[in-house]
Amino acid sequence: MASVSVLIPAAGRGARLGRGPKALVRVAGRTLLEWTLEAFVWADEVRVALPPGLPAPQPAANVSFIEGGAERQDSVARLLKGAGGDVVLVHDAARPFVARAVIERLLEAVTLYGAAVPVLPLPDTLIEPEEGRYGVALERSRYALVQTPQAFFREVLGEAHELARARGLTATDEAQLVRALGYPVELVKGDPRMFKVTYPEDLALAEALAQTWPGGGG
Ligand code: C5P
Repeated sequence: MASVSVLIPAAGRGARLGRGPKALVRVAGRTLLEWTLEAFVWADEVRVALPPGLPAPQPAANVSFIEGGAERQDSVARLLKGAGGDVVLVHDAARPFVARAVIERLLEAVTLYGAAVPVLPLPDTLIEPEEGRYGVALERSRYALVQTPQAFFREVLGEAHELARARGLTATDEAQLVRALGYPVELVKGDPRMFKVTYPEDLALAEALAQTWPGGGG
């Protein structure tokens, strides 16, 4: 069985949420980071990037903390530097609910293909607004929403980050960088409960879900 390092960029300022560093916002009595860490107790190691100047939370058995970088990609690059697993899972702390079935799909696919991410179909009609008005409708079935965790052979992600540095590429997730390397990224089925807490309204949804989530909160 391949060893697994989980990398958690949690160094964002949470500007859109407006409640301070997002990873430390509480849902049903626990921080988003605590909810996330609970999903990865099985991993060989978990490395978390926190905003600079923040006191690191109590260390747990398999968890270590570092200072994040200016952008998400910088935070992941720093996390990757010290990672030792054969496989790395990169997961946003802003997604507190991590479904076990998705992890299993990812670990199976990454072993076969070297890179795998969870995706969801679009539930809504997708358009390109034209100056604030309804514009061209895109063919919804041709698009997908991308979630985290994203799984890679550590060496593949390392190479992708090196390429990004050399070419000055920036991306909102790791799979884009791995694809830029010319490496195929396998898609597995995601889970809508793994949504990203972004806006204040998302907290009410997270509170509700926390009441029934495995492990429980409320
Ligand atoms: O801003 P967004 O929600 O896309 O951020 C995704 C994740 O990246 C969050 O978990 C956030 O804490 C993290 N991040 C980071 N370092 C930064 C900016 C964001 O670790 N400099």
